[in-house]
Amino acid sequence: MTWTTTMVRVRALATSNGSRGPGRATRLALAIALTGSACRSEASTGAARAAASTSPPSTNDSLARAEAAAKRLGGTLRSKLEEAMTQGGAARAIEVCASEAQAVAAKVRADTGVTVGRASRRLRNPVDGGPPWVGEWLLAQGARKAAEAKGVREIVDTPLGATARVLKPIEVEAKCLACHGAPEAIAPDVKAMIAARYPADTATGYAAGDLRGALWAEAPASR
Ligand code: HEC
Repeated sequence: MTWTTTMVRVRALATSNGSRGPGRATRLALAIALTGSACRSEASTGAARAAASTSPPSTNDSLARAEAAAKRLGGTLRSKLEEAMTQGGAARAIEVCASEAQAVAAKVRADTGVTVGRASRRLRNPVDGGPPWVGEWLLAQGARKAAEAKGVREIVDTPLGATARVLKPIEVEAKCLACHGAPEAIAPDVKAMIAARYPADTATGYAAGDLRGALWAEAPASR
């Protein structure tokens, strides 16, 4: 179990009882239980855990690291998408997005020790759900346009310690519509590729300016 899944589980448990969170005793027990399981698997986990277990970085460093990792993920995906669109249009770019988006995120995580991802309320790839705090942010935006959505940049206390969180709204631009626009406006070959790879796709029907989702990152921090 990685540090991230541990924390996500803590938070999932924390919100599943319908209240704002577990009582102090439950929280403590969870923290102890989960810290224990994280330590046991330490030897077999990756860079994120290793980074978390070295001396904790200062608050500002953690926010800056989280922000840099999010920027790297967003920037890398954007340039890959643009390059593929120029080379072979949307049909080629679908292949690139489908085969590389998750690998790029995994590489950023491994290189930086920061957990990063893209998330949305209307998913194409079901693995992009993001942690609960990102889901809560997405839900809270309602029908807001991307320009009206305010991002996140904060340090929060979690059962596993202080954590830097960064989130940036993702806006739908004209160039996204070839694959995320109204279904009738998506080319038939592109539509077929989306249907074949993502049978449960809900990420179409957007217009330019809509809020597509969130680019998020979190890193261990100290106060
Ligand atoms: C060529 C087609 C294509 C274009 C153009 C495109 N996307 Fe996507 N998008 C995809 C595919 C395919 C995925 C699923 C990737 C995966 O499997 O991880 C995806 C996933 C996403 C996700 C992750 C959430 C989810 O639903 O899985 C976001 C956010 C996103 N796209 C935003 C954008 C934005 C913003 C633009 C325009 C700047 C854009 N996309 C342009 C094909 C495209």
